[in-house]
Amino acid sequence: MSDSRPIGVFDSGIGGLTVVKALRDLLPNENIFYLGDTARVPYGPKSPETVQRYAVELAGMLMGKNAKALVVACNTVSSVALPLLTQKFTVPVIGVIEPGARAALQATRNRHIGVIGTRATIRSGAYEKALRAADNDIRVSSRACPLLVPLIEEGLLDDDVTDRMIMRYLEPILADGIDTLVLGCTHYPLLTGAIARALKRQIMLVDSAQNCARAVEETLDRQSLRAAPPTRGELHVALTDAADNFLNVARDALQLHFGEIELQPLP
Ligand code: DGL
Repeated sequence: MSDSRPIGVFDSGIGGLTVVKALRDLLPNENIFYLGDTARVPYGPKSPETVQRYAVELAGMLMGKNAKALVVACNTVSSVALPLLTQKFTVPVIGVIEPGARAALQATRNRHIGVIGTRATIRSGAYEKALRAADNDIRVSSRACPLLVPLIEEGLLDDDVTDRMIMRYLEPILADGIDTLVLGCTHYPLLTGAIARALKRQIMLVDSAQNCARAVEETLDRQSLRAAPPTRGELHVALTDAADNFLNVARDALQLHFGEIELQPLP
């Protein structure tokens, strides 16, 4: 039994392509339909109610593409809308929080984990909840880093302005004594190099993209939803508004290949 329907992946914009990259590497036979809400990005400063409404609309659009599973490639959406999406849609819904929290728990030695993300993600406390649900004694130091998304979108991946901002955001949580840091935003894997440079000591970095891809693999296997080898899956990218320069930044940094971008206006 094989299922060639696409995996529907969505994000507030382009950052979720880091999850697509991890999915392409891990599950090369799968077809992927990616939808980025470039018309309304960023979600990070918005209220949970607004993000939930947007998430249901995007997931509905992907169901219209016959998605066999929904991957929420956005920490902000995953932190406030996962239960709602799971309740509204019958296909499996996989977010980035649980897989990231699980990986962080495996990585930490001193049981003190740092989490960085957008304001909405940090305000939701979703990582703390997921971490404490597994281990009540775990210590968590979180920090919202609202300026990192615009710096990444400007392509300043290797720049001292970005390095200085990273240090400013990380100093307090490093001083707390974390030994593991969750990159709780789908843009941040693009800054792995800069973040690793900024850390003066050995800190384990947990990337939500790779851990999410592993969770998708497990779910597809469990529910017999895998596409058959040996065909290489296709990647379609659709956006709710015209792409800006960040699409080129992400495509180059991730070395992703896809054809024409489809414009998918909001209903
Ligand atoms: N994709 C969002 C996330 O992972 C970051 C961009 C935004 O604020 O919409 O949290």
